[in-house]
Amino acid sequence: MGAPAGDLPAGGSPYRIAVVCLGNICRSPMAEVVLTRKVEEAGLAGRVAVSSAGTGDWHVGEPIDPRAGATLRGAGYDPSRHRAQQFGAGWLDHDLVLAMDATNLADVRVLADTTHDRDDGRVRMFRDFDPDGPGDVPDPWYGDAAGFDEVLAIVERTADALVVALRRALR
Ligand code: 4NP
Repeated sequence: MGAPAGDLPAGGSPYRIAVVCLGNICRSPMAEVVLTRKVEEAGLAGRVAVSSAGTGDWHVGEPIDPRAGATLRGAGYDPSRHRAQQFGAGWLDHDLVLAMDATNLADVRVLADTTHDRDDGRVRMFRDFDPDGPGDVPDPWYGDAAGFDEVLAIVERTADALVVALRRALR
């Protein structure tokens, strides 16, 4: 078993977090942009580094999905610097790897050669930190704008909870 939800594994300085989805153009870049800003607002810039990647390679080098970008801009975030990257074994040097859904988690764990029984606590579901409860961040790719609004709401409240956990872990 990993660390209980709310507790963070020990990490380096900066504490490095990778958020992982399938394409790295919708969910994980939304989480990266939101969490990065909340980390800055908490005064933890420089002490926490947030990146994102996708398990698939279809969109490598592309900017954020226009629908995800519009949703973020509408809420006051700037997603312009994002370029999609593919997750690989080299990313397992992060202190915390947060999967957006159960498929992403399974794909990361294949690379990590780890299982629920032999989990060192660094590979977790993003929504393990959601105050409304765990689960998948639903893939908005095939849906409409409401799906992106839902992802933003999940990501914002979960990022707030993550920042609380980071403050506690890094003080
Ligand atoms: P994401 O969404 O994993 O949240 O970035 C998707 C992006 C692209 C595809 C699927 C999901 N796709 O099939 O290309």
